Amino acid sequence: MTLAKPFLSDNAAAVHPKLWAAMQAADQPDNPYDGDRLSAELDARFTALFGRECAALWVATGTAANCLALATMCAPHGGVVCHREAHIEVDEGGAPGFFLHGAKLMLVDDGFGVEGAKLTPEGIAALIDPIRNDVHQVQPHAIAITQASEYGRAYSPAELAALGAFAKERRLGLHMDGARFANAAAFLGGSAQEAARAASGPVDSLAFGFIKNGGMGAEAVVLFDPEATQQVRYRRKRAGHLQCKGRYLAAQIIAMLEDDLWLANAAHANAAAQEVAAGCADRLLHPVEANELFVRLTAPEREALRAQDFAFYDWGAESARFVTAWNTRPEDAAALGKAIAAL
Ligand SMILES: Cc1ncc(COP(=O)(O)O)c(C=O)c1O
Repeated sequence: MTLAKPFLSDNAAAVHPKLWAAMQAADQPDNPYDGDRLSAELDARFTALFGRECAALWVATGTAANCLALATMCAPHGGVVCHREAHIEVDEGGAPGFFLHGAKLMLVDDGFGVEGAKLTPEGIAALIDPIRNDVHQVQPHAIAITQASEYGRAYSPAELAALGAFAKERRLGLHMDGARFANAAAFLGGSAQEAARAASGPVDSLAFGFIKNGGMGAEAVVLFDPEATQQVRYRRKRAGHLQCKGRYLAAQIIAMLEDDLWLANAAHANAAAQEVAAGCADRLLHPVEANELFVRLTAPEREALRAQDFAFYDWGAESARFVTAWNTRPEDAAALGKAIAAL
């Protein structure tokens, strides 16, 4: 089925032509697994982007990227603090429990001055401070945040710095699910380096998403701790994620980094979201900072939009989610904004 005016998910968006070209160019003999010329470039490219030493390993899904990174910072008897609506809690089919050998997810709700599935040091402290330091209680080992959050909210550099300081003080690992990292970076602004550094702050690991942003099947696990990198190399193989033709994944990621395509694609998606938001007025359930809109709409209103060929998911009984992408047509975004305003 093709979607006439697609706002279902950025996962449904097409692959960017530059990535097809890059995969075609990589289609010649090279060393298998991650021994190829392109995979070997990744660490240096991400180190240049983030301005601090790091390693970048490709995997085929965001779920694997999150869970492989988290497994390096949380023992099976420990816990990962995350928002109650975090992707790792709600949408990864129990993968954290699988990859982390039964470790617990410790859930935080909105509050302490933020909403939209964002965490604060205060909110985390409220959850973990009452935990007794004895073997009967699961101890937190790590924090996982999502940039942009599950409701399309971006963490600011100041918010990230506060979370980083808290994690350091409490000796907790800090992981970022960046399935929409590019959209948050584009929102924060600046050059690619400035935006990437602002959006990542002091995290220990980042699941840098490319697939939603014009990629096909490659995400990068970015690790700022060499010991974690070694672990992930072994864990990736054990988990069945060390693809033998890794050059095609590396080619996608490098094509995204080339000429800052990742940031341009995200900026396009964010601009389309703003175009839709312009028609939503007080129907918006969350400020629009990235490429997702959560809009209060009754069932008949949603039906009326679908009758005009707009494709999107319901979000509970009284709202809907619209997601823009790197290839959203500006005229479709404008038409959706107008159609919502006309309801
Ligand atoms: C917030 C978030 N994290 C991670 C992912 C990665 O999921 P997948 O394992 O389907 O690539 C997604 C995709 O929908 C997401 O929205």
